[in-house]
Amino acid sequence: MRKLLLLLSLLYSAMLFAQDFKILHGPYLQGVTENEVTVVWVTNKEAVSWVELAPDDESHFYAEERQRFYQTNFGKKEIGTLHKIKISGLEKATRYRYRIYSKEVTAKEHYYIGYGKTVATNVYRQKPLTFRTLDTSQANMKFAVVNDIHENSELLEKLISQTNISEQDFVLFNGDMASNMFSEEQVLGGFVDQAVRSFARETPFFMARGNHETRGLFSTEYINYFPTSTGQPYYAFRQGPAFFIVLDGGEDKPDSDIEYHSLADFDNYRESQIKWLTDVLQSEDFKQAPVKVVVMHVPPIRSTWHGPIQIKKHFIPLLNKAGIHLMLSAHLHKHFYIEAGNDDCNFPVLINSNNHVAMFSIAKQEISIKVLSEDGKSILTKTIPVY
Ligand SMILES: [Fe+2]
Repeated sequence: MRKLLLLLSLLYSAMLFAQDFKILHGPYLQGVTENEVTVVWVTNKEAVSWVELAPDDESHFYAEERQRFYQTNFGKKEIGTLHKIKISGLEKATRYRYRIYSKEVTAKEHYYIGYGKTVATNVYRQKPLTFRTLDTSQANMKFAVVNDIHENSELLEKLISQTNISEQDFVLFNGDMASNMFSEEQVLGGFVDQAVRSFARETPFFMARGNHETRGLFSTEYINYFPTSTGQPYYAFRQGPAFFIVLDGGEDKPDSDIEYHSLADFDNYRESQIKWLTDVLQSEDFKQAPVKVVVMHVPPIRSTWHGPIQIKKHFIPLLNKAGIHLMLSAHLHKHFYIEAGNDDCNFPVLINSNNHVAMFSIAKQEISIKVLSEDGKSILTKTIPVY
């Protein structure tokens, strides 16, 4: 048996060696702010990678050597298959052209590194990829929300196709995009690859972690694939007049549940977010934003399970005092729009269904919402005045 396993492992290594060096997943844009962006992609073999950046002007990408940004760790370029390159010092509200490169590492010794082929995105036969930084002074902003597709890429494609994606500043994935996190291939193949095909090379997506993304041994890698400004699944950002607080409600059942295999510690995790949330709500960035939106996969209402009860207990008293204009939730696979003042929330809560796409246009004085079903049927059209 051991000999057979050894033989299979050798065969697998030989097959891998024989494969051409290539980009398997991505690139996709993460963590975009007014002056930063992170570009993420995966190669089938270890590599040293970089991003070349060019202004979005009339010059050809080949007009001159473009500035390079590497993935480094304390001054050394990293070797790996997951490439996650953060570019800082960008201008706000600015479109940039970019090109990704990976240079295969064929030998890795203490004092010798061997290199193989180099792969890159095309800038000759195709237009170079672009991204645009955020702009907090922009009068209006637009974004679309999808959640709970549970690796149904076909559904994701249908929903995104209804959004006029080029008009959206970003897409928000509000959790349970994957049914669990077992491996890189399963998670990226489950929804990220489709997002890349539909938009994510040029329009960023923001993730709110769902309870299903906490499941499986690969779930510990979550933040490496979906990096945030805090290094945690909960974070905040602003675009145009809107300030977004993205919370992580963790799992829905008690931590001791058999499904969690004695590994869940979400009661403590939710409590740890209270300090962070309190600081955010007291920050000038939050207070000065005309529109305040909270995002959380598990809704604090319409459920009598332990997770939602905890969320309601911990987060709602703080949010009720903070002048929130809208909460976006998911998880229930059913559409609910709950007016402010109901279910102990003094702000409206939109719980988006798994087969709907919600689109938002936010200005200083109002939030416009349009929810469509997967076949384009109107589910909700609503305008919320902002005071
Ligand atoms: Fe969920």
